[in-house]
Amino acid sequence: MSSQKTLTPKHIAIIMDGNGRWAKSRGLQRWEGHQAGAESVKAVIEGCIEAKVEYLTLYAFSKENWNRPKTEVNALMKLLEQFLKKKSSELKKNNVRLQAIGNLQDLSSGPLKELKKTIHETRNNTALTLILALSYGAREEIIHGIRSVLSDIKEGKLDPSSLDTKIFSEHLYTAQTPDPDLLIRTSGEKRISNFLLWQISYAELFISDKLWPDFKKENLLEAIQDFSNRERRYGEV
Ligand code: FPP
Repeated sequence: MSSQKTLTPKHIAIIMDGNGRWAKSRGLQRWEGHQAGAESVKAVIEGCIEAKVEYLTLYAFSKENWNRPKTEVNALMKLLEQFLKKKSSELKKNNVRLQAIGNLQDLSSGPLKELKKTIHETRNNTALTLILALSYGAREEIIHGIRSVLSDIKEGKLDPSSLDTKIFSEHLYTAQTPDPDLLIRTSGEKRISNFLLWQISYAELFISDKLWPDFKKENLLEAIQDFSNRERRYGEV
């Protein structure tokens, strides 16, 4: 890969963190923090369209999130379903194509039905591809990719000696998507939390101290501006 300066990242991935702390600091319930977080989702979608970002991947629910109290898990599932029901017309109006990655069959039937419906209805849209990571874990995704490679080898579709990083990428959930150029995490935490481990190999990192419900369009534009000032060398000099 040659060194290049990219002004706008083609693909932004976001670890949306801090909903619980935002709620706690206001004496609210955790689900109210997630509800406020859904407004920031709307704001960053608008920001990405404005900045002509082509792909936005949001870590909306991790594999580990199933271990949260049942009330919180139910609230998050409900919120996802409502978001898809309420915002689906806006996504269509704004020419946004929805996709999802993760173990989608783990989702409850309500949100899963809305998800499949919106994915289908927006499949030909071209302004922005919004990818929701749901019941997602990067290590699980890599294992899934290995199984898929092994199956191709067994069926004689793939010669093991030709396996390389490009071919392996095609066996991941993100097969049709370019790798993220910019990874944003909110709430000041400096962790990757099992998110897109393979795909973020060369991503630039941006840590924002804002809690997710306080992260708005101007904060996204600030992260994009910061990205555009960096020189990406991909290990070269
Ligand atoms: C992390 O904050 C956030 C989540 C686990 C869920 C993210 C969900 C949303 C932003 C709302 C719904 C999303 C969509 C796409 C409609 P946390 O609860 O870990 O915060 P804490 O670290 O302060 O406790």
